[in-house]
Amino acid sequence: MKKKLLSVLLAATMVATLATGCGEAATEETETTAPAATEEKADDAAETTASGEQTVGIAMPTQSLERWNRDGSYLKEQFESKGYAVELTYSDNKIDQQVKDIEGLIADDVDLLVVAAVDGESLSQVLADAKDANIPVISYDRLIMNTDAISYYVSFDNYTVGKLQGEFVIDQLDLKNAGDKTYNIEFTAGDPADNNAGFFFNGAYDALKEYIDAGTLVVPSGQTKFDQVATPQWDTKNAMNRMENILGSNYGDGKTKLDVALCSNDSTALGVTQAIENNYWGDVKDVIITGQDGDVANLANLVDGKQTMTVYKAVANEAVATLDLGVALLNGETPDAGLIGSAGWSFDCAYDTESYDNGTGVIPSYLLVPTVVTKDNLQKELVDTGYYTLDDNGYPQATN
Ligand code: BGC
Repeated sequence: MKKKLLSVLLAATMVATLATGCGEAATEETETTAPAATEEKADDAAETTASGEQTVGIAMPTQSLERWNRDGSYLKEQFESKGYAVELTYSDNKIDQQVKDIEGLIADDVDLLVVAAVDGESLSQVLADAKDANIPVISYDRLIMNTDAISYYVSFDNYTVGKLQGEFVIDQLDLKNAGDKTYNIEFTAGDPADNNAGFFFNGAYDALKEYIDAGTLVVPSGQTKFDQVATPQWDTKNAMNRMENILGSNYGDGKTKLDVALCSNDSTALGVTQAIENNYWGDVKDVIITGQDGDVANLANLVDGKQTMTVYKAVANEAVATLDLGVALLNGETPDAGLIGSAGWSFDCAYDTESYDNGTGVIPSYLLVPTVVTKDNLQKELVDTGYYTLDDNGYPQATN
């Protein structure tokens, strides 16, 4: 696997716009980068080292969901900073495209694959090819199902993301002391093709279940099952349309109040917020709306009081964990919990060998810790940490 260029060049055929907002990227293509000639030779074998001739293939799902733009650029930056060449692909949320992208990376003889799947169930065949070619595969953020080609999984604790959302609602409404009071809630979950989506939903639902069972939380639509509340492709419009229907059918009398819109992430929260603004008699600022990711549009809504919280996942750290794991794999090691100590990360991470079974067995996982962000701690958690700056109007803008 040593066919790599060693000159300094951005041999890039990057045609797609690196859309950092929620805009649609018209076409999503491949960015190819060769390693810098000035790459540093690492002096400590236990540290991150680079052969200078190895290439990392990174397959991301789409640029139309904001976070993956950040993941792609952080991952690329991390591996390049250690002298690896990087090939980065985005697949426009299309399964066939991602299969092709990964086939291309295998044909290019990459030495490591980092894959965030469009559809966790659809990569078994192409990853069997990766395995045949002895290319280790890291399942990035989303668990890839039904393949034994995956060596490791790097993500955040997905169940905890949902749990934090549920617990936030419990605190905001002081449900423990609710007495006879009742509140109305509607759920919006993620893409059924994304293994994470069930974890997020279950984390939130499990936290709230006792209050639903007790009748303190009421779901006027009656939609409480993941399949009923899921949002194909995590798409903002899909989430908006569904919520507009729910509002029309269940809250149209001008007095039934929506207290909580529990949304699994920011792209769905954005659609739900729009639906509430379009098709609900009350004020969106009186509805508790949850999210996840810290997308720029949602942070603006946080500042404006339209969204109440987001669960932030520092994808910059997820990239660092992936780098150190990737380097260990490229060096032929079999990392375990010890990697966390030896890597000396400044962030918390758990090594989990129980929670994520992809159908072929449990995949060893490195799970980072998510954080609740509200209007009140946004400065401390997102701006002081350097992930975002505030523009002249006080709205957060991503720094990467
Ligand atoms: C990620 C979330 C993201 C969602 C949609 C999930 O797999 O974990 O952070 O909001 O995909 O992009």
